[in-house]
Amino acid sequence: MLKTESLCQYFGDVKAVDGINLHVRKNEVTVIMGGSGSGKTTLLRLLAGLEAPTSGSILFAGEDLAKVSRKRLYELRMRVGMVFQYSALLNSLTVFENVAFPLHEHTKLDESVIQTMVTMKLEQVGLRGFEYMMPSQLSGGMAKRVAFARALAMDPEVVFFDEPTSGLDPISAGVVSSLIHETTTKARMTSVVVTHDVKAGLSIADHVILLWQGQIIAEGKPNSIKTSDDPRVQQFIEGRPNGPIPFSRSQTAYIDDLMHKPGCVRMR
Ligand SMILES: Nc1ncnc2c1ncn2[C@@H]1O[C@H](COP(=O)(O)OP(=O)(O)OP(=O)(O)O)[C@@H](O)[C@H]1O
Ligand SMILES: [Mg+2]
Repeated sequence: MLKTESLCQYFGDVKAVDGINLHVRKNEVTVIMGGSGSGKTTLLRLLAGLEAPTSGSILFAGEDLAKVSRKRLYELRMRVGMVFQYSALLNSLTVFENVAFPLHEHTKLDESVIQTMVTMKLEQVGLRGFEYMMPSQLSGGMAKRVAFARALAMDPEVVFFDEPTSGLDPISAGVVSSLIHETTTKARMTSVVVTHDVKAGLSIADHVILLWQGQIIAEGKPNSIKTSDDPRVQQFIEGRPNGPIPFSRSQTAYIDDLMHKPGCVRMR
């Protein structure tokens, strides 16, 4: 479904995505995990065609997103859905209007058809009956499910999720995780999930990709990740504070910053 070759995204000196070769298979849940700043969101945005890479290719059903025309990119984007990290619902619109939004924007369907489609999507995420609520009246878990329904509105082939379980209690996180897994299987969809929630990630993944400093350090089935003997993988899975993955990513020595050595901390 999706394939990248030598994919790079650099922001100045920061190599957010650094030479990634990956494969997202059809009708599977691919989970991209990694610590904060490892490049997960940047990679997800590239895969979803929301940003152009510094170099490399992103093949979506055989077409390179980095090379197609703007018009074609827009057409291809219609075939994917995105659930953003903070749900990104439109606060002045009701739940119904939020889910109907992409249908109103991109189709000329009759209002009665749109109403049926929205009802079906809300039923899918267990929120039928909540159509007239405003986003401010929803819990975090409900907002994520509405965002999921909105991403499903156009019957996408691939849905991208950025941290779908962050900030949720364990039960709501479990509900959202199983929804992703169930929908992928039942609707024969493809899902790409970015998360640092190891438990949720390993429980729904068909394929896991583990990132560190913009590069893939491990990939495979959840079981092979769990039993990996790479110390970086084990540190991440077990959430150990000490190990080969450092907490601070500063490029300069602490003592040099404290002594205001030129080239270290730049104050405005
Ligand atoms: N637009 C940008 N401009 C400059 N640097 C950026 C930009 N976007 C991301 N970065 C940098 O790229 C690196 C990877 O960021 P990214 O947001 O992809 O990480 P992440 O794995 O999603 O982290 P988190 O788990 O905290 O969300 C970071 O060092 C970040 O500062
Ligand atoms: Mg992120």
